[in-house]
Amino acid sequence: MRKGYLHIRGGRPLEGTVEASGSKNAALPIMAASLLADSAVRLRRVPRLADVGNLVAVLRCLGMDVGREGDAIQIAPRDTAPFQAGYTHVRRMRASFCVLGPLLARRGRAVVALPGGCRIGPRPVDLHLKGLAALGADLSIRNGNVVARSARLRGAKIDLAGSAGSTVTGTANVMSAATLARGTTTILHAAQEPEIVDLGRFLNRLGADIEGLGSSTVTIRGVDQLGGAAYRVTADRIEAATLLLAAAISGGRVSVEKVVPGDLRAVFERLDQAGMELTIGADRVSLLAERLPRPLRITATPYPGFPTDLQAQFTALLCLARGQSRVADAVFPQRFLHLAELRRLGAEVAAGAAGAVVRGPCRLSGAPVAATDLRAGAALVLAGLAAEGKTVVHGVNHLERGYERLDRKLAALGADIVRKDRAARWIPNGPP
Ligand code: UD1
Repeated sequence: MRKGYLHIRGGRPLEGTVEASGSKNAALPIMAASLLADSAVRLRRVPRLADVGNLVAVLRCLGMDVGREGDAIQIAPRDTAPFQAGYTHVRRMRASFCVLGPLLARRGRAVVALPGGCRIGPRPVDLHLKGLAALGADLSIRNGNVVARSARLRGAKIDLAGSAGSTVTGTANVMSAATLARGTTTILHAAQEPEIVDLGRFLNRLGADIEGLGSSTVTIRGVDQLGGAAYRVTADRIEAATLLLAAAISGGRVSVEKVVPGDLRAVFERLDQAGMELTIGADRVSLLAERLPRPLRITATPYPGFPTDLQAQFTALLCLARGQSRVADAVFPQRFLHLAELRRLGAEVAAGAAGAVVRGPCRLSGAPVAATDLRAGAALVLAGLAAEGKTVVHGVNHLERGYERLDRKLAALGADIVRKDRAARWIPNGPP
């Protein structure tokens, strides 16, 4: 993996138009679900991200032929059909666990490394396992792996409610597996996120019979087999909102194109409350930041609530607001590692029992900082756009897991941002 960092000189209002990329969190479970198809699947608008590269490697290990060209990926089954996805890949990316359901349903056997700890807090997979067990899988944990076996899965009624709501990738795993089960599966407390809707639409395109997508009750009538298909992945709502926040924090005017505005309602509501001027079209959103933001109280909750994947970036914006803001996260209550790095940029942010307290307006000034995870990294980039002087964001590999060319997109909008690679080591008499 390339190690790099970003140099940002803050203080330039962003202006212009930018296109949203395809959604990472839709593309990953869709790629994993391609394991269910009997023939080739062609996906378009797959973002060029490290996480996608990781899943390509997992699928190849699982005996799939995977070809990539630009934003298109073709995934086709080969004759050999291994069933093990090892720790190397799952450790790099938790979403690799999404292969468990499809693998089990299609091949009758799956060995997938159990994901370990995570920087954004505890992330158990008990609900994934509960759902697959209800479909008839025989599950055990051996040598750090989930070992799953089953003759043909059978439909069941499954409640995926957890203490923090539903589970997004858990719903993906169970819904994908249930497409090939005998009989009907009803998922109660299914995740309603747009990425799950996109996965369901993709599965239906392959020949599955899924109803209730976008609601909390999803019904899947099992079919005997799924065929190939072509599918275009939906827009990345988190990336789109991050770009709008870049406009807001820099005092600029930016339009983001090729988005699905209906998926961003909760975010627009908060931006509106913060005093940002929004113009919402059919597949385009423009933000004009004519004034400093107003302070807000935000709690991240499952969709259709405000997304946890944007709370760090919003916290960066609220540093500019005059007055006290509060940001809580009901999905990942411990997801506040970014606060310590924001403080290095001059933010007056404290972590309380109920999340972050921001005392604005903070005078941000550039400093070297380190991205601890993907969205925390995005928050630091945003803060860097507003800070006086030079900010250096280390840990760009975290950002590149989930943002396609963020530095280039921001630079095209007028940001003074440059990506640098760590200097290559000079090897005397080495290859040219
Ligand atoms: C997905 C997203 C991630 C996002 C998160 C919440 C992908 C690849 N990742 O992660 O970007 O931040 O949704 O919107 O789509 N939980 C359990 N038991 C389980 C599973 C989850 O208790 O078996 C809990 C988690 O600890 C957390 C909550 O449920 O508190 C939501 O987690 P979940 O929706 O599963 O997150 P992911 O699917 O891992």
